Amino acid sequence: MTKLNNVFIFDHPLIRHKVAILRDEKTGMKEFRELIEEITTLMTYESMRDVETVPVQVKTPLEVTTQYKVPEQSVVIVPILRAGLGMVNGVHTLFPTAKVGHIGMYRDEETLEPHEYYFKLPEGTEEKTVFVVDPMLATGGSACDAITALKARGCKKIKLMSIIGAPEGVEKVAKAHPDVPVYVSTLDRCLNENGYILPGLGDAGDRLFGTK
Ligand code: PRP
Ligand code: URA
Repeated sequence: MTKLNNVFIFDHPLIRHKVAILRDEKTGMKEFRELIEEITTLMTYESMRDVETVPVQVKTPLEVTTQYKVPEQSVVIVPILRAGLGMVNGVHTLFPTAKVGHIGMYRDEETLEPHEYYFKLPEGTEEKTVFVVDPMLATGGSACDAITALKARGCKKIKLMSIIGAPEGVEKVAKAHPDVPVYVSTLDRCLNENGYILPGLGDAGDRLFGTK
């Protein structure tokens, strides 16, 4: 994993392998959805390296020992709708009891400005580690606004995870929210004139849900 300020880039060969298949235009909806989940689980494993554990007493068949566990529900998963929904199961694989908040954002196709249309968090989210997930970090507008909205509701410990990041988006989030670690599996080349990531994978929401 490479770290640049608060940005972590995964360079694991198994993640690279899966991302290569994900990008392929011939990869169909079912495989695309499964890959998003699998990559998310692999990335979650690494990005939660600093998650809190608490001591617990465990009785083995031979003796009582102090061991360490992640407290139940210490993490709240917050997908940015729609495409972030595709990552929720991947985080649940490792944090099965995590509650889920939702932030609805869509990018205006002309201006590329994000618009919030839905916001709902489980009670007590502000005390938890909030794990914002969205496969694509393009201009960074959606992620920045989502993080700002979470901070306005009192959330203090926020992490952002995206499968593909563009340099523009990563830089925008890093500047606006230097306290928020950003995890991407790969940093792509640039955005095209329509705000799509190059080489990217196209429209993540459409490929996940079959809308185009
Ligand atoms: C996509 C993607 C991100 C956003 C990234 O969502 O899932 O949320 O664009 O772009 P940005 O970094 O430039 O803000 P989109 O607005 O297409 O909505 P959808 O998930 O409902 O398809
Ligand atoms: N949203 C996507 O789904 N893909 C991109 O390349 C950029 C924004």
